[in-house]
Amino acid sequence: MDRQPGWYGCNQSDRRCDVSMKKVEDMAVTQWVRLCGVAEAPAPGQVMEADANGVAICLANVNGELSALDNWCPHRRGPLGQGWVEGESVVCPWHSWVFHAKTGVAEYPENERVDVFPVKVEGPDVLVGIDAAPVPAESAITGEESSSEPGGE
Ligand code: FES
Repeated sequence: MDRQPGWYGCNQSDRRCDVSMKKVEDMAVTQWVRLCGVAEAPAPGQVMEADANGVAICLANVNGELSALDNWCPHRRGPLGQGWVEGESVVCPWHSWVFHAKTGVAEYPENERVDVFPVKVEGPDVLVGIDAAPVPAESAITGEESSSEPGGE
C-alpha cells in the first residue's frame, strides 16, 4: 500500500474515513486489528466504543479525522467512547475530564493522559494498531454524545 508521509486518506469519498497516520511509519506496530467498517465509524464530532481483540478502544472523529484512544478514563474508568467531542478533544461522560484526541493528554488535571493508538483505513475496514507502543503525541481521537452518566465528583 502506498502511504504518503503525514496524512492517510482513504480512497473513498466518505470524509469519515480520513485518518491521521503521522508517526505510524515510525512505530513498531505488532498487530493491526479491525475495529469496525468505515461505514460504521463515527461521523465528525462523534465517538464510539469498539473492541480490538479484547482492548477497549474509544474511536473518535474530530473534524473528519479518526483517532483511537484507550477507552478507559484514568480517573474512575469512565468509558470515553460514550463521551463526546469538544474542539479537538474527547470529554469523559462521567466527570468531564478532557483528553486531546491526538495526544491523549488531559487538559485537566495536569500529568494525566490516556494511551493513543495508530489508526488506518484499509479498504472497507478501520484498523487499529495494538500491542504497539502507544503513540506519545501525534495520532487521532474524538467523540460522540454521552449515554451514561453516573454521578460523582
Ligand atoms: S471517570 Fe472520567 S472524568 Fe471521572
